[in-house]
Amino acid sequence: MSESPLIIALDYPSLDAALCMADQLDPARCRLKVGKELYTRSGPAVLEALHGRGFEVFLDLKFHDIPNTVAGAVQAAAEQGVWMVNVHAGGGRKMMEAAAERLEKNGLATHLIAVTVLTSLQESDLQEVGLSCTPAEQVERLARLTQQSGLQGVVCSAQEAAHLKTICGDSFLKVTPGIRPSFAAVNDQQRIMTPSKAIQAGSTHLVIGRPVTQAADPMEALTAIEAELA
Ligand code: C5P
Repeated sequence: MSESPLIIALDYPSLDAALCMADQLDPARCRLKVGKELYTRSGPAVLEALHGRGFEVFLDLKFHDIPNTVAGAVQAAAEQGVWMVNVHAGGGRKMMEAAAERLEKNGLATHLIAVTVLTSLQESDLQEVGLSCTPAEQVERLARLTQQSGLQGVVCSAQEAAHLKTICGDSFLKVTPGIRPSFAAVNDQQRIMTPSKAIQAGSTHLVIGRPVTQAADPMEALTAIEAELA
């Protein structure tokens, strides 16, 4: 169990590679994120292996389907013991409510959050799928809907965190990728923020991948991030 805001993204194409990294990290000082590629390759075995090592896991599969299907998928994730799971807010109120109610009815404490607008989408992309608003407007609309549907938070950029804090409150979770510690390379991230700036902006959890996983000494990188946050 960890009280750290840090979630390390295990973006690996195999169970072995993911566990090799996990074995270099301390479950008391971070949580781990498992995404679509790793989960599609390794399945529930990766969750068992990480839980067995004492890690709490954010299963980042971004479910988006009819309400009954998403509720079943979220229940399956929760019954495998994951700490956090997510859906696409664009799936709508009924989908999100069904998922939240399913967890509650079964006494499952897994955190359920939503993705609002993928950061890869620009205004022109939204127009192409029939949405005549800016990404920022759509993020706000979907964050409100997420909260009204009974979910605990959203995935958002650090740039969005401050505004979402104003409209959804402090306790609404704001899980933020695109974080770059002052020592790290930017890689392909567009709009980045340092860990301490993101927490100041209102992010409650920070998703960090390559600055830790590609460091020569991952625990040393984690320690440097903790120092930036202290
Ligand atoms: O290596 P890096 O720190 O860039 O990894 C960030 C993680 O957060 C990756 O798993 C990436 O898929 C995810 N993510 C992101 N930007 C988003 C949503 C998710 O970087 N808008």
